[in-house]
Amino acid sequence: MSEFRELSPSEITENPFNLIGKDWALVTAKNGDKTNMMTASWGGVGIMWNKPVAFTFIRPQRFTFGMLESEEYFSLSFFDEDFREALRFCGTKSGRDFDKIKETGLTVCYDGEVPYFKEAKLSLICRKMYSQFLNKESIVDTDTVLKQYGDDDYHKMYISEIVKVLAK
Ligand SMILES: Cc1cc2nc3c(=O)[nH]c(=O)nc-3n(C[C@H](O)[C@H](O)[C@H](O)COP(=O)(O)O)c2cc1C
Repeated sequence: MSEFRELSPSEITENPFNLIGKDWALVTAKNGDKTNMMTASWGGVGIMWNKPVAFTFIRPQRFTFGMLESEEYFSLSFFDEDFREALRFCGTKSGRDFDKIKETGLTVCYDGEVPYFKEAKLSLICRKMYSQFLNKESIVDTDTVLKQYGDDDYHKMYISEIVKVLAK
């Protein structure tokens, strides 16, 4: 039997500032035979168009970017501190060069076709609703924001419905 139980988004008690900004997340998608994950610490959760949503921001040079572009679903997974090194690996190495599942030893499981991890404490199954590149013309606080984009590699923002919450 699965160790996970399904919660509604409003039953998540962990603080999202800690969960995303400090614990970090793995953004995971499957494209054909390839499943890949990358670490993300920018983003958020909230309500949009009356739905519970996750906001993720992915730079176009990430291998994960191409996977997210071609798939409707992906997951966001959160882990205990024990997995910090695995998340560091996934945040510094590319799926173009490494099989990160093999390298980290994490165990993929699936909700339908959507990959997430057995070792996660919490996984959000996400369905893309809207995506758009950030752009220079829209920056208001240029002092803070512009210095993040020396290479003009503006993040693409994905607003995704949280269709399922799986928690231990
Ligand atoms: C703590 C941490 C947080 C990160 N957050 C993001 C993020 O929110 N968006 C992003 O595009 N890259 C982020 N990265 C960088 C990617 O995780 C990194 O470039 C990764 O190697 C991409 O893997 P991929 O090429 O397999 O997609 C982060 C890296 C770390 C270490």
